[in-house]
Amino acid sequence: MARVAGPGSGRLILAIETSCDDTCAAVVDGPRVLSNVISSQAALHERFGGVVPEVAARHHVEIVNGVVRAALDDAGAGLEDVDSIAVTRRPGLIGALLIGLSTAKGLAAAGRRPLAGVDHLHGHVAANFLEPDPLEPPFLCLIASGGHTLLAAVRSHDGFETLGQTLDDAAGEALDKASRLLGLGYPGGPAIERCAADGNPGAFDFPLAMTRDPGLDFSFSGLKTALVYAVAELPDSELGARRADLAASFQAAVVGQLTAKLERALATGDWRAVALGGGVAANALLREHVAEICDRHGVALKLVARELCTDNAAMIGSAARFLDPAPYPEYLSWDASSG
Ligand code: KG4
Ligand code: ZN
Repeated sequence: MARVAGPGSGRLILAIETSCDDTCAAVVDGPRVLSNVISSQAALHERFGGVVPEVAARHHVEIVNGVVRAALDDAGAGLEDVDSIAVTRRPGLIGALLIGLSTAKGLAAAGRRPLAGVDHLHGHVAANFLEPDPLEPPFLCLIASGGHTLLAAVRSHDGFETLGQTLDDAAGEALDKASRLLGLGYPGGPAIERCAADGNPGAFDFPLAMTRDPGLDFSFSGLKTALVYAVAELPDSELGARRADLAASFQAAVVGQLTAKLERALATGDWRAVALGGGVAANALLREHVAEICDRHGVALKLVARELCTDNAAMIGSAARFLDPAPYPEYLSWDASSG
C-alpha cells in the first residue's frame, strides 16, 4: 500500500494500548492522528460494576489483531509503511498489558521494526502534543484517570515530574465506586455526570479532602466513605429521589479537590499553560472550573477532545515520537509492569 501523502513527520508510528479495558490501536504521523481505533469493553464489565482483569485480558486477545488492522486501514497504510511500533508497557493490569506488548513485539519483530515501550501516564500527557494546536512544554498537567491522579510538571516532551499524587484512590476510581453504590453503572464518571445534571451540588456537604494540607497530594478514600454514610443514613424510600443530589454533590467534591490542588500548584509556580489528561478530564464540570481558574490566573488552557482524554493509542504514539525506540531484537525480552 502507498505511504500516506501530505504533511507530517514522514515517520509513521503504529501504537497499541491495552493497559485496562479498552483495546486501542492508532497510526500517527508526527502530531497528526491518521487513525485512532478504540474498542471499549465497558459493556462486558458493566455487570460486575468494574473491570475484571481476567475478562479484560481475554477480550484483548480476541480483538487486538482486528483493532490493529482497522487502525491501519483507517490510516490508509499497510504494516510495511510503518516505521516504528509503540506500545504501553506500564502501568496497568498486567494480563491486559501483556496482550498489547506481545502483539507489538510480534508485529515489530516480523517487520524488523524498532519498538518503543511507553509509560501510560506519559501517554496521557502526550495527548496534548497532538493536532490540532499541539501544546509545547513547559506546562502544568492535571492527570485524573481510573488508576491515577497526579499533578505533572511537563518541562520537555519526553517525560514529566510528579508534583503531587493521590495517597489512596484515584479520582476516576472514586467516581466508579460512587456510581456503583448509587446503582448508576460502569464506567462511573460519565454515569455520575449524567445523573448529576438533575441534582443540587450543594445538597450534601461532602469533604474537600487535603485542601487544608499544604502539599499537592490528593486523597479520595474519605470522600467515598462519606458517601457510604450518606447513603446508609437515607431511608431506602428516599434514595431514588436523592440520587441526583448525591451524584451532583459527590462530583462537585471530586472536582473541588482536583481544582483546589491545581490552583495551588499554579499559585506556587510560574506556569503559562495548563493541560488536562486522563478519563476524568472528559468531565464537563472539571473542564468548566479549570477554564475559570486559568482565566483568573491569566494562564492558557489546552483541552483535548474527550476521546483523547480517555484511554486511546494515539496518545501512546504521540509519546513515542519523543522516545528512542529499541532496535530489533532487543525488545523481545521485555516484560510489562503493573506498577
Ligand atoms: O484514562 P482512563 O480512560 O483509564 C485509565 O487510565 O484509568 O480513565 C477512566 C476513568 C474512569 O474512572 C471513568 O469513570 C472516568 O475516567 N471518566 C470520567 C468521565 N469519562 C470517563 N469521569 C468523569 N467524567 C467523565 N465524563
Ligand atoms: Zn488512562
